[in-house]
Amino acid sequence: MCGIVGYTGSHEAQALLMDGLRRLEYRGYDSAGVAVQSAEEPVQVEKQLGKLAELRAALEARPLGGTAGIGHTRWATHGRPSQANAHPHTGGGERFAIVHNGIIENYRALRHELESAGVAFQSETDSEVLAHLIARAYQGDLARAVRQALKQAEGSYAVAAICADEPGVIAGARHGSPLVLGRAPHGFFLGSDVLAFIGETSEACYLNDGDSFRMDAAGCEILRADGTSVVPEFHTVTVSAEQAEKEGHPHFMLKEIHQQPDVIRHLLAAYVADEQDAIDFPDIRGLEDRLDGIQRVVFVACGTAWHAAMVGKYLLEQWSGLPVSVELASEFRYRHTVLDGSVLVVAVSQSGETADTLEAARKAAQAGAALLAIVNVPGSTLDREAHGAIRLLAGPEIGVASTKAYTAQIVAITLFALYMGRRRGALSAEQLAEWIRALDALPGQVERALSDKAQIEAVAAEPICRTASHAMFIGRGYNYPSALEGALKLKEISYIHVEGYAAGEMKHGPIALVTDHIPVVAIAVQDEGVYGKTRSNIEELRARGGVILAIGTEGDTSLKEIAQAFIGIPACPAELSPVLVAIPLQLFAYYVACMLGHDVDQPRNLAKSVTVE
Ligand code: G6P
Repeated sequence: MCGIVGYTGSHEAQALLMDGLRRLEYRGYDSAGVAVQSAEEPVQVEKQLGKLAELRAALEARPLGGTAGIGHTRWATHGRPSQANAHPHTGGGERFAIVHNGIIENYRALRHELESAGVAFQSETDSEVLAHLIARAYQGDLARAVRQALKQAEGSYAVAAICADEPGVIAGARHGSPLVLGRAPHGFFLGSDVLAFIGETSEACYLNDGDSFRMDAAGCEILRADGTSVVPEFHTVTVSAEQAEKEGHPHFMLKEIHQQPDVIRHLLAAYVADEQDAIDFPDIRGLEDRLDGIQRVVFVACGTAWHAAMVGKYLLEQWSGLPVSVELASEFRYRHTVLDGSVLVVAVSQSGETADTLEAARKAAQAGAALLAIVNVPGSTLDREAHGAIRLLAGPEIGVASTKAYTAQIVAITLFALYMGRRRGALSAEQLAEWIRALDALPGQVERALSDKAQIEAVAAEPICRTASHAMFIGRGYNYPSALEGALKLKEISYIHVEGYAAGEMKHGPIALVTDHIPVVAIAVQDEGVYGKTRSNIEELRARGGVILAIGTEGDTSLKEIAQAFIGIPACPAELSPVLVAIPLQLFAYYVACMLGHDVDQPRNLAKSVTVE
């Protein structure tokens, strides 16, 4: 949600800033801009409405020379996408330029006060107040002016500023929105995440909430919230520049869909000890002692991660016997929740930066609950703040529609549910060994499911799919969350109105919508539990003219007979089927969106990492 980049050093800044913005574009893409400093022309700004290509074209026509600068790619919160509302914003007669990610909640009052004092605003954004506040506070020390200005700001921010009077200096701070510093042989970087500078260096230092910083070509220092100055400690991050490229795929989404077998292999290799058939999570040691006293588990998450958590509820209840609830983080954080030390709160997040999930997690920790993070981005705020973490090891996920992080979340939660089951004595060593064997087969089965691409593409090309304005997804049991996730995937990137339902709920209302114009994607894998019930629900829909696209177990001829189209997944225990079912759901959404000509990696109105409420 908005991407920030900054550079100061001996190289030309513009190219480095643009490279950073290219990798951060998944965070927001309605407009973008850069501000560059040079000795001759102090603060030069270029910004454009639209995707980064527009800014690139403008800079080709009018390059900005200089060795320090800041850049921003925007996801609009206050003020519609426009050139004027794009960052950087300037203040103090264009002597200052700032970029901001977050929301300044008291901006109306601040703006009113500044306007009363004669300041003229150029944009409708909340962010612009920061440029003017910094200009007003400036007395020859940019870092100090930034800190002074931010004392007046309420809300969340990652902010970086440059000033004509201090060439080569970038100052900024974070409170609630992520910011990471980078050290290269030729200078220093800052970014909303390490992708901002991964092409130049893998040495990174994550800022904590309340930190402010000052950097120039020669060095970098951090000031903690309590006023103590610290020298940044840089660590080597494992992300590589190639991981942030499409590597021959037409879209990041397709690349990430294809990475899933390897992601699952990595997870199993990292957390399953072969010889003992045991599960071990090295980064939950600080939490382990508390796990035996846990009486209840609460998952908090948003979006796709919430669907993965729902699968987790079914599995954890089944294998550990613990009561489990799954909460939307945005609701949980404002509810009168009952929490204490006997509750384990599991926050699930790809980015580890989603504002609602972070606040829900903090609320839980403050109430004394044990806090476990299931998170993809190492070093992210959630990863650092939780009492223990299970990392997904999936590498950067750049397509806005989450794919590999979803299946990795399910596999990680499955392992955790087995671990808790064994720990609590609810599962025997033999049962655990059997489940581990079934999990070992998953990567190969995901590969098989991926090999059906052409068939799924053909289903997506059917007129009923290409021309649909509405669609439904249904599933039961472990695959009720799959129905919700399949619906979310399709609506995110195709803009078709899609709803996911528990199959058993269709007759309580949604069945009224069924006509022969609405495709119904029905998930019915063979298992001992709810397969027969889902089949009956499909028959009920068919009897009312419903067009059924069924996802079931390979070789299920009877399901094939009652569906207009059938996609088979390899046979596996129903408990593990959500991972395999995800593959055709993701590919179906991808192909439908491609056929409709949409930008699948950067769908309209969305952003990958939602760092505002
Ligand atoms: C955004 C993304 C979704 C994602 C959700 C939660 O809405 O577009 O794909 O599922 O945020 O993100 P997180 O990083 O916390 O998993």
